[in-house]
Amino acid sequence: MRIDILTIFPEFFSVLDISLVGKARQSGLIELSVHDLRDFTHDRHRTVDDTPYGGGAGMVMKPEPWGEALDAVVDVETTVIFPSPAGERFTQAMARELALAPHLVFGCGRYEGIDQRVIDHTRGRVTVREVSLGDYVLNGGEVAAMAMIEAIGRLVPGMVGNPESLTEESHEDGLLEYPSYTKPSVWRDHEVPPVLLSGNHGKIAAWRHDQQVERTRRVRPDLLESK
Ligand code: ADE
Repeated sequence: MRIDILTIFPEFFSVLDISLVGKARQSGLIELSVHDLRDFTHDRHRTVDDTPYGGGAGMVMKPEPWGEALDAVVDVETTVIFPSPAGERFTQAMARELALAPHLVFGCGRYEGIDQRVIDHTRGRVTVREVSLGDYVLNGGEVAAMAMIEAIGRLVPGMVGNPESLTEESHEDGLLEYPSYTKPSVWRDHEVPPVLLSGNHGKIAAWRHDQQVERTRRVRPDLLESK
């Protein structure tokens, strides 16, 4: 998979060299490039923003640098993702779908957002998704893009040593994950649930499923309603 990131803070993404995504880059499974949006400006101050038409607080990102930057990286098979608190909600299902895409471009906006014509114009050329990490506001799309890249990257076919660890985790079956324990069997007077030491795989599977349902009902009842 190819990933291009457009941002005014390219240094933000240096952390992607470590962790699983870093390994995927080394092995060639993910080819990731970060581009500085200011390299697509032509004025002395490398300006990327201006005041909003119609008035209001904050600054809006100018269309020209975005247009040139997108022209440089987008081709017919590209999916362009604009992280935005006004977008559709990012989910595990979306991560799974995007992990199969050959080429993703993340357009990270700052300030009050990107001139809407950039998004509309790009949508006329390729698949575009405005995606929100959750119902809260970040200062820009960088942190959201990083979270999405990690969630998508680990699902790219060929990634992660143990495929079972992908199907047994939270959200894969619409439930939260069951609690996990390791040695020692007693720690500070807290015992590991005895069923896990029983060696009875059927009982263990049933207990884990019950734990998933109970935990989901307690902390995320909304997930059960949508099932
Ligand atoms: N940019 C600012 N807030 C965001 C959010 N919640 N999700 C994605 N991108 C954002």
